[in-house]
Amino acid sequence: MTTPAATSHPPAHLAALHTDATRGLTAVPKALPPKWLYDAAGSALFEQIVRLPEYPYCRTEQALLTRCSPDIAANTRAPSAAEPGSGGPEETLALVDALAETVTTDVPVDVSSRALDQAAPGLSAACPRVSAQPRIADFTAPLDLDDVDGPRLVMLLGGTIGNLLPDERAEFFASLAPRLTHQGRLLLCVHLVTDPRVLLPAYNDSAGVTATFNRGVPHRINRALGIDFDVDGSEHITVWDAENEWIEMRLRAGIAQTVRLDDHGIDVRFAAGEDLRTEVSAKFRSERLARELDAVALELHMIWTDPDALVAPALRVLPAA
Ligand code: AVJ
Repeated sequence: MTTPAATSHPPAHLAALHTDATRGLTAVPKALPPKWLYDAAGSALFEQIVRLPEYPYCRTEQALLTRCSPDIAANTRAPSAAEPGSGGPEETLALVDALAETVTTDVPVDVSSRALDQAAPGLSAACPRVSAQPRIADFTAPLDLDDVDGPRLVMLLGGTIGNLLPDERAEFFASLAPRLTHQGRLLLCVHLVTDPRVLLPAYNDSAGVTATFNRGVPHRINRALGIDFDVDGSEHITVWDAENEWIEMRLRAGIAQTVRLDDHGIDVRFAAGEDLRTEVSAKFRSERLARELDAVALELHMIWTDPDALVAPALRVLPAA
């Protein structure tokens, strides 16, 4: 079974970080795209997060997917699969036994080479019949996938879609259509809107793993761009935005400071107590999702949820024109 090693980050990576940091730190309010959480250290911390008692999403989704995987497989019958923003293998493994009856190729796509280095061998070990072909890429950029003859199953698992802002989601959903010809299927698993008393601790665990995960972002920018934002003095903050129905992770600067972004002298000023948003994680109601996916003609085929209504995987199809 072929498991080509994930290619390492292209040099463009540094330029992208520089661009995002310049744009994000000069924005009001300051915000960075959540993908920068996932370097090797960040991916390792995320592996710890999914095992925390306060973070129920991953294990809930795994158990649910295992239970409904025969239905998913029977209603999909695709020879090839792709997983934008795959992360590690956890959610995929829950599906693989059922899918392997028809899927011969799976393409996990992620910005983190560590995640891919776990995903591809994990998949191959569990299911030697499926050829894992990992791609290191930002899945929000147009997916560069080979054309296939039959239908394709695109899997967006783990609540990853929640990291995109509404307009980014619209763009992403629209970009899927050409990948779902031959009545391809989208398996989209979202986190549902729940009581903030359940939600907030999931992003602010008592062991402080999520806080360390969050601090990884400015750490990485400091290292990559040679700046010295005061990471240790800043505070890990989680906010439930009830209007937008998303969780935000922020870092709150402990002291006023100025960081010089590059040699051309872009100075970024932080006031004491000023926030830098490092992640948005949207939670969904089925109506909102239906509106967003109907807009790109992706029809609901099947949907499931767990008894606590934390997650909802759904299968959608692009009907033949
Ligand atoms: C990987 C985006 C699904 O939003 O729950 C976990 C990332 N951030 N704890 C999520 C995350 C803080 C996670 N996703």
